This record gives sequence, structure tokens and C-alpha cells, in this order.
Amino acid sequence: MARIIGGVGTTHVPSIGKAIADGKQNDPYWKPFFDGFPPVHRFIAREKPDVAVIFSNDHGLNFFLDKMPTFAIGAANEYRNEDEGWGIPVSRAAKGNAPLSWHIINEVVGEGFDITMCQEMLVDHAVTIPLQLMWPMGDWLPIVPVAINTVQHPLPSMARCYELGRAVGRALTSYPDDLKVMVIGTGGLSHQLDGKRAGFINRDFDTLCMNQLVADPESLTRYSIPQLVELAGAQGVEFLNWMAMRGALSGTVSELYRNYHIPISNTAAATVLFENRPRAERRKAA
Ligand code: DHB
Ligand code: FE
Repeated sequence: MARIIGGVGTTHVPSIGKAIADGKQNDPYWKPFFDGFPPVHRFIAREKPDVAVIFSNDHGLNFFLDKMPTFAIGAANEYRNEDEGWGIPVSRAAKGNAPLSWHIINEVVGEGFDITMCQEMLVDHAVTIPLQLMWPMGDWLPIVPVAINTVQHPLPSMARCYELGRAVGRALTSYPDDLKVMVIGTGGLSHQLDGKRAGFINRDFDTLCMNQLVADPESLTRYSIPQLVELAGAQGVEFLNWMAMRGALSGTVSELYRNYHIPISNTAAATVLFENRPRAERRKAA
């Protein structure tokens, strides 16, 4: 049976890729952000996950405004990156785990989620930057990419993304192979890249979201998408990916670490690390 050991929420700003390529991790601008990752590295070294399920949004590399699936899941054994025009190096390909992908797809479609299944899928900075941050030595785990539309309105609701995460979590726990799974949600937190409010950041709302993600994630489902745009910025809606990540954590969730730093590029940059312990284990320990 696959076991979900923990979750990570992380920003995916493309310029992080340039900072990594240029070795700028210790520059004064970048250090407070990169300092958020050693706790994640230690958790990974200790827990040794086998596979990562990544909830993120595609920014036009794979899907564009003309055809935009609400939810898409990759079912490939390799996911390539291509030049997205951000001036960052094209990333190496990420390995996949197609059998696990198909199991998840079967289960979540069975539960009523109408998934676009992708036997070929490119992954953009929303996947490759978090992989580079979490596995800086390049020893990336095989991934299952889950793409959530946070770009072309109408977007799926907070509740729907949370429920998708829960369905993925259930699918993982019914997978027969003995795998340790890390779930990742990328993007956010508050940011707006264009329009009158370009550069908008909302520390209070970000803090509330991070607090409630641990304590009471369902309380966040009361925000409509227009409210989320208002409070988090037009691109801050990427928090939907974090909601799905949190939904997949089905056990007892505790926050092991949090880093919040303003700004990285136009974004309030955040990293959170959650541990997910099976409920039965907690009863035994008590
Ligand atoms: C930035 C943030 C994003 O989420 C993104 O996808 C691209 C750019 C930024 O702040 O520069
Ligand atoms: Fe983004």
C-alpha cells in the first residue's frame, strides 16, 4: 500500500531557475528564500520518499487558453520541459510512474472527476523549479504531475480542488505497491503579474491561508474565486494547487516548517513542510 508521508507547498517563480543556474543561492536577495529548503532536504533524507505527486498549473507550455483542461493528470514515464521564454535554462526531463498515474486516474474518474489524461505531457517551471529546489543534487523522484487550471476562467473552486486532492489521497492509499509518496503543491502565494494591481502582495491573507491549511483547511473553501483573486491577486489563485496538496494528506497533519519571504520577483514566496502521519499510528502512540 502506498503511504503519503508528507506535503510541501512551494512558490515556483521562474527566476529561481536563473538564480540556481548562476549559483546565486547565497546572494543577499536570494539567501532568505533558499534558506527555506534545508529543512525540506533533511525531511526527504530521513523519510526517503519513492515518488512525488505534484499539483501545479501549466502556464501555456502544454495547454493554452484555447484548450484548457480543468484537471489533467500525466500518465507517462517521462515529462520533458521546453523553453518557455523566461530566459532560464531548459530543465532536464522528469521521470514518471505511468502505472501509478493510471491507478490515480482510474480511481478519481471513478469518483466523478472528469480528468484529461495525458500520455504525453510537457512540464513547465511550476514543476521543474520545485524539483530543483527540493532535490538540488538532481536526484529527482519519479513524478505524477496533476495540472489544475488556475489560468483561464472559470477556475475550479477551492472546495473542488481540495476534494480532488482528497480523491488523489484515497487513490494513493489504495495502490498495492509499497511506495512512500510526497505530495507537492506549487505556486502562490499572493501575487499579481499584470494590470493595475501588478506587484500586489497580501501578507495577512497569506498568513491566514498557511495557518488554516494546517488547522482547518475546509474553512478556506468559503472563499469564492473572485474573492481569492481580490485577496491573493490574479496569479495568487495558484493557491488552488496548495489546497489540492493539503487535501491529499489524509492522516494527522502537522506543520514541521514554514518560510515566508517578500518578494521574490513579484511574488510572496512561501515554503511549507507538512508531515502526514497515519491516524492509527497516532492512536498507537497515544
Ligand atoms: C512569477 C510568478 C509566477 O507564479 C509565475 O508563474 C511566473 C512569474 C513572478 O513573480 O515573476
Ligand atoms: Fe505561476
